[in-house]
Amino acid sequence: MSSDKSQAIIVRPARAEDGAEISALHARAFGPGRFARTAYRVREGTPAFSPFCRVCVIGGRIIAAVRLTPISIGRRGGALLLGPLAVAPDFANQGHGRGIVREALEAARSAGVAIVVLVGDEPYYARLGFRRIPAGQITLPGPVDPGRLLAAELVPGALAGFTGLVAATRASEDAAAGADPAASLLSDARPSLRV
Ligand SMILES: CC(C)(COP(=O)(O)OP(=O)(O)OC[C@H]1O[C@@H](n2cnc3c(N)ncnc32)[C@H](O)[C@@H]1OP(=O)(O)O)[C@@H](O)C(=O)NCCC(=O)NCCS
Repeated sequence: MSSDKSQAIIVRPARAEDGAEISALHARAFGPGRFARTAYRVREGTPAFSPFCRVCVIGGRIIAAVRLTPISIGRRGGALLLGPLAVAPDFANQGHGRGIVREALEAARSAGVAIVVLVGDEPYYARLGFRRIPAGQITLPGPVDPGRLLAAELVPGALAGFTGLVAATRASEDAAAGADPAASLLSDARPSLRV
């Protein structure tokens, strides 16, 4: 595959029809152990796409993808779980990973999301505004290295207002809110703006 830098770089929201291509990208980037991770357990059974998922397309091919899943933390909404983030190996180290994360975070900030949480490498994500969550403040339903549990505050000071267990915002909760997942997330997010 070519990584011709003269081709247009398009970053856009991920769509349902991207699913197979994104799955293939994940398989290449992560390998077969990926479903055992605790973050995957949170996402299990949730819709594959939220309004904040982004893909980077070059020459008609998806070369990077990031998923953001609406979550509650200790039953409080207005938060997202970031991951997986994957970049095609032949396009690595060209800024595409950081680029799509930045775009996803901007979309989340514009929508009033207060905080984005992830499990990942602090040296990589620190440059995107993520920092370590104080040990025990936020927990996941499975083992996580506390040094890899990170958060980015989209509303300054928001992290202090989130404690407890991470759980995906389920479709039934979205339906109960009487709206599509994006609108439900926004209604959840508004109280967080007061933090
Ligand atoms: C990790 C990954 C997303 C990085 O994407 P990318 O587009 O290649 O990276 P970027 O171009 O945005 O950033 C490159 C920089 O990050 C650094 N970097 C890459 N992976 C890193 C890591 N795990 N820890 C620390 N730094 C890292 C590179 O050394 C480079 O540093 P430089 O700018 O000082 O040269 C990509 O390599 C990937 O898909 N890896 C496999 C899947 C994975 O581990 N995903 C992340 C967990 S969800």
